[in-house]
Amino acid sequence: MSDLSASVAETAHGFHVTGYEKIEYDFTFLDGVFNLENPQLANYYTQWRRCLAIMDLNIFNLYGSDMTRYFEHYGISLKIHKTMIGEKAKSLETFTEIVDSMTDFGIIRKEPVLVVGGGLVTDVAGFACAAYRRNTNYIRIPTTVIGLIDASVSIKVAVNYGNYKNRLGAYHAPMHTLLDFNFLRTLPVGQVRNGFAELIKISSCAHIRTFDLLDEFCERLIETHFGRINDTTGEVKKVADEINRAGIYEMLKLEAPNLHEIGLDRVIAYGHTWSPLHELSPKVPLRHGHAISIDMAYSATLANRRGLLSDDEHRRLLNLFSRAGLSIDHHLFDEDMLDKATKAILKTRDGLLRAVVPAPLGKCTFLNDVTAEEMNAALRRHKELVKQYPRQGEGIDAFVDSSDTGYTVNSAPLEETLHRVDSKHEAKHEDNKNHPSTSNTFISNLKEVIANRYPHGYHIVEQEWAEST
Ligand SMILES: NC(=O)c1ccc[n+]([C@@H]2O[C@H](COP(=O)([O-])OP(=O)(O)OC[C@H]3O[C@@H](n4cnc5c(N)ncnc54)[C@H](O)[C@@H]3O)[C@@H](O)[C@H]2O)c1
Ligand SMILES: [Zn+2]
Repeated sequence: MSDLSASVAETAHGFHVTGYEKIEYDFTFLDGVFNLENPQLANYYTQWRRCLAIMDLNIFNLYGSDMTRYFEHYGISLKIHKTMIGEKAKSLETFTEIVDSMTDFGIIRKEPVLVVGGGLVTDVAGFACAAYRRNTNYIRIPTTVIGLIDASVSIKVAVNYGNYKNRLGAYHAPMHTLLDFNFLRTLPVGQVRNGFAELIKISSCAHIRTFDLLDEFCERLIETHFGRINDTTGEVKKVADEINRAGIYEMLKLEAPNLHEIGLDRVIAYGHTWSPLHELSPKVPLRHGHAISIDMAYSATLANRRGLLSDDEHRRLLNLFSRAGLSIDHHLFDEDMLDKATKAILKTRDGLLRAVVPAPLGKCTFLNDVTAEEMNAALRRHKELVKQYPRQGEGIDAFVDSSDTGYTVNSAPLEETLHRVDSKHEAKHEDNKNHPSTSNTFISNLKEVIANRYPHGYHIVEQEWAEST
């Protein structure tokens, strides 16, 4: 929602317009958004007596009946557009299907569309809302850790196009974001871990208390999906709620003055300097959370060698990534890769490295004067250190699988999924080698798409990219 104030002045040969747009949007923490006793969501729709929801098919399979019951209870008619989503389906085709549903529904100006799902759905449907009549309201309900603490904190919305990630998009704030961490009960643990990395990022550079909590409760936070399953005492949930609130608040404070990403010194870019190449170098791409963890761990070693991060703090940080099952190294990480990645990032950061490092933990600084010798020496030191870590520093479930690509359908009912997660027999996504989504063509297409998650694109062939968080 926004208001614009503008002034117009005459110039010698025409006119000059200056405008300021006020942007307002709200976040509400609400566990059990579809619980009948929680009217917050319904309140947005009572005046319309109807709601159009755009939803991840997997989320519909799990939560569709709860949602339908909820809207029935409040006397609001509900139409659901289900979309099967994955990185390959974050496309113009999915976008136009959503637009067609909005037309069929006859969405009225100002009537908010409801968007429910992970970062993929909120990005695509958010973009459809940005484009529909140039501006349509929407309400977001994110359902993944990345969605809850990262994608839905920003106002960026986009689709991939022409093998370029997020090539077409907009800055479009929703009216409201409802943050219901209960959705994490059913989220595969690999996805929980992936989002955990972004929380380490923000806390290690901006909020020491949050970092301390992540450190103290690491394994329990991941095992209990942020206190949403098997947390018998409620202790982990309480801690998780504090962490998430603080993480989102820090991110909003840092990014709200830079909503259109004009400033290039960005604290939230910690771990996002060399990570694109980590993400892309393996045959099957690394998950984003693992790629940024390798970058963050290496950056910490760099900071440690400079005396910006004490030995204790450095070890604490590396230990935390490792305990969380996140990667701190990869066998393809070598001097050549570091060189390529550095050259590429310099192009997109106006010629400056702007590498964020924690200094000390909970605060950070930007490094612009790191020579190739220093980087390589830090890499040698880093490689020595990671030998002492479990799995030689490699992560658990570190690689993209079919759930990231958009070809996994979870059609199991909620109770069955919860049981599976509870009993720790969480179905691993289908074996990579049997799955069509991991064919060579598929992987190279996927890599192309991931390669271009950055505003100016990264073309694998040209070894060039621009950044994103
Ligand atoms: N706009 C931004 O600022 C921003 C920031 C970060 C990431 N992103 C985008 O977000 C996307 C990644 O989103 P994501 O990590 O949230 O993943 P996602 O939306 O792909 O969801 C991951 C998988 O989990 C399933 N899923 C989602 N919620 C679930 C739940 N509660 N229970 C069970 N299964 C569930 C989905 O169906 C999917 O298979 C990328 O495209 C990235 O570009 C955008
Ligand atoms: Zn990121």
